[in-house]
Amino acid sequence: MEANKNRILVFGGTGYIGKYMVKASISLGYPTFVYTRPINSETPISKIQLCKEFNSIGVTLVEGELEHDKIVAVIKQVDIVICTFAYPQVMEQLKIIDAIKVAGNIKRFLPSDFGVEEDRVKPLPPFQAFLDKKRKIRREIETSGIPYTFVSANCFGAYFVNFLLHPYDDNKKDITVYDNGETKAILNYEEDIAMYTIKVANDPRAHNRIVVYRPSKNIVTQNELISLWERKNGQKFNKVFVPEEDIINLSQILPPPQNIPVSIVHSVFVKGDLVNFELGEDDLEASQLYPDYNYTSIDQLLDKFIVDPPPPASAAFE
Ligand SMILES: NC(=O)c1ccc[n+]([C@@H]2O[C@H](COP(=O)([O-])OP(=O)(O)OC[C@H]3O[C@@H](n4cnc5c(N)ncnc54)[C@H](OP(=O)(O)O)[C@@H]3O)[C@@H](O)[C@H]2O)c1
Repeated sequence: MEANKNRILVFGGTGYIGKYMVKASISLGYPTFVYTRPINSETPISKIQLCKEFNSIGVTLVEGELEHDKIVAVIKQVDIVICTFAYPQVMEQLKIIDAIKVAGNIKRFLPSDFGVEEDRVKPLPPFQAFLDKKRKIRREIETSGIPYTFVSANCFGAYFVNFLLHPYDDNKKDITVYDNGETKAILNYEEDIAMYTIKVANDPRAHNRIVVYRPSKNIVTQNELISLWERKNGQKFNKVFVPEEDIINLSQILPPPQNIPVSIVHSVFVKGDLVNFELGEDDLEASQLYPDYNYTSIDQLLDKFIVDPPPPASAAFE
């Protein structure tokens, strides 16, 4: 690793998207740190194995809870902070913001966004409440004067292929289609999301900007996705359409947090929130920022599910 490269610290680096970020950071040659909750008898074996793998590829692991003095000390050792906490821990980022303010050395902070462009959508109330927390974090970062990049990564590709197509279930004949299946969504492969994120975190062009990951080959409707999948595995599926009013109804009757995934489905696959705003002059788009980076198209991502499947997501959507 080059001595003059930015040092990157990831909070939540053992999580679903976090591990891709950590591996991307190492693969691009950045000294990489992961702040992780202490390993104890309750820790899942998968996390213990991942931490061993991180050690073997040169990641510096720091174990701890979010104690102020301890995180200030770690933050002082790095240049860039990326947080990939899950939704229930979003407000915990206030502790990281406080620590970054005290440390005073951070060149860029990327909070745990990585979904819809939360400042430009108006989804159903359960998803709105989810996004309100993420927005609060954005406003706190801006008010604090911390250099930032806000990332709208759109759908995690493998995660949503699992959710929509159930590619691991060989006996599945039915595929659920939300509304009429004609709304455009954006599915980006997790490895690319991570590579783009490490690139934007280090890119002066992305200083205090929002970056949207909207590569043209990954804009797809559910019907197009199903047709592509049918062509690849030579199977015809029976589409089971769920009308919009049923989705809205579910968002109203399901208790929290189960009312959030259906509200996300409504936002993404019914309203088309990922594509229904134009990128303006102040916006940056990842595939245009890095035209030489060969991202995985949705077509190529589906090939991976046939040849070398990415691990199934343990998603809130399952
Ligand atoms: N665009 C999409 O399609 C999509 C899909 C899913 C998620 N997301 C977004 O991506 C971000 C990360 O989500 P994720 O699903 O990758 O997160 P995750 O895997 O559920 O969790 C990330 C990490 O948070 C850490 N953590 C800290 N305190 C915790 C606590 N009290 N309980 C549990 N974990 C705790 C854990 O790391 P340690 O154990 O190492 O501390 C955990 O591995 C979120 O902003 C989420 O909204 C987007």
